Amino acid sequence: MKTNAAVLWKIGDKWSVEEVDVAPPGPGELTLQVHAAGLCHSDDHNVTGDMAAPMPVVGGHEGTGEVVEVGPGVDRYKPGDRVLTFPMPACGRCRFCSQGRSWLCDLSARTMSATSRGDRYPFSKNGQGIGAFTQLGVFSEYTTVSEAQVFPLPDDIAYEPAALVGCGVSTGYGAAVRAGGVRPGDTVVVIGAGGVGMAAVQGAVVAGASSVLAVDPVMFKRAEAVRFGATHTSAGLAEAAETLRELTWGRMADVAIVTVGVMHGEWLDEMAGLISKGGKIVMTSVTPVAETTSSFSLTPFAMSGKSLIGNLAGFTNPLADFEELWRLHRAGRFELAGMVTNTYRLDQINEGYADMHAGNNVRGVVVFG
Ligand SMILES: NC(=O)c1ccc[n+]([C@@H]2O[C@H](COP(=O)([O-])OP(=O)(O)OC[C@H]3O[C@@H](n4cnc5c(N)ncnc54)[C@H](O)[C@@H]3O)[C@@H](O)[C@H]2O)c1
Ligand SMILES: [Zn+2]
Ligand SMILES: [Zn+2]
Repeated sequence: MKTNAAVLWKIGDKWSVEEVDVAPPGPGELTLQVHAAGLCHSDDHNVTGDMAAPMPVVGGHEGTGEVVEVGPGVDRYKPGDRVLTFPMPACGRCRFCSQGRSWLCDLSARTMSATSRGDRYPFSKNGQGIGAFTQLGVFSEYTTVSEAQVFPLPDDIAYEPAALVGCGVSTGYGAAVRAGGVRPGDTVVVIGAGGVGMAAVQGAVVAGASSVLAVDPVMFKRAEAVRFGATHTSAGLAEAAETLRELTWGRMADVAIVTVGVMHGEWLDEMAGLISKGGKIVMTSVTPVAETTSSFSLTPFAMSGKSLIGNLAGFTNPLADFEELWRLHRAGRFELAGMVTNTYRLDQINEGYADMHAGNNVRGVVVFG
């Protein structure tokens, strides 16, 4: 089948929207007609090379759409079903899935490879195989994915805002509620108020935080953060430290959630200074893979019982936890539509990412149609 898709041919290029072939569904796979795809910062790490998949690659991993064809053995879905994608598969059979930790599913070993199931490319052009970022490739009108990376989308939730739940919203919400374990009355600082950070702000509010400080150099983001429940804002870490000192009488934050666009190891020490003894840093952001060191002082960190937690996908068990978000959304306690600042056609995808870099979007969304 032919499809228009946003392809990245090499690091440093722009996304190139062109016609490619999409493979028919193999065993355990299905073909989706994509309706909406969020512009997560993680796709952009391919462009900068900070964390790149093998090239060429079709981008996009937070998406919603409709099943159009199923391969042999697929029993979770049928054509016509509304679904959303998720970078972390849930096979339902491995040790981690059985333990209720499906964000660590054994199938995720192939997430960053170009081919699915070890040998097949989901896309191709003139005989050359093209991979799909995180095995999803939803910057495409059609894509073929594993049924283990697709989850039901209820009829009453619109395609556009729901796409965000496929990565940014689950990751940010889960950073507060699950990875960070925010409790009623906690003071939470969210560093980087983009798509993921804004969901973390909302997650902290849902979990009962009494104070939520959003840190972002962009004034628009700070204003938006207040709309999503932040009680305080700062433009940078030094100002945040001052605000937290006043707010907590010197005790500092219980949980710091790091959601800046690109993290650097040398910032960790100052971030560790934002949390109280016994506090947690929830590291969500990607650091350029070539940067393999972080400098922070371990003795005071250990002696004050602090924790550094790697946050993968908000510790989300999609089959159970998406339902939690739909219910909060219906109850008016988690805002989804308001997180979509601008929508784009697929051929405007580079404008969408330019807007992300310029700080114009909480989240941009590509709408197909
Ligand atoms: N761990 C995971 O599972 C996971 C999932 C999704 C995204 N991510 C990563 O999370 C990060 C955030 O993603 P996003 O889509 O929200 O990005 P985004 O670009 O939408 O938001 C990043 C925000 O950080 C702000 N920022 C930049 N530098 C800052 C600084 N020094 N201090 C404070 N704020 C700063 C920007 O102004 C922006 O508002 C990215 O690194 C992304 O790759 C990780
Ligand atoms: Zn599994
Ligand atoms: Zn993402």
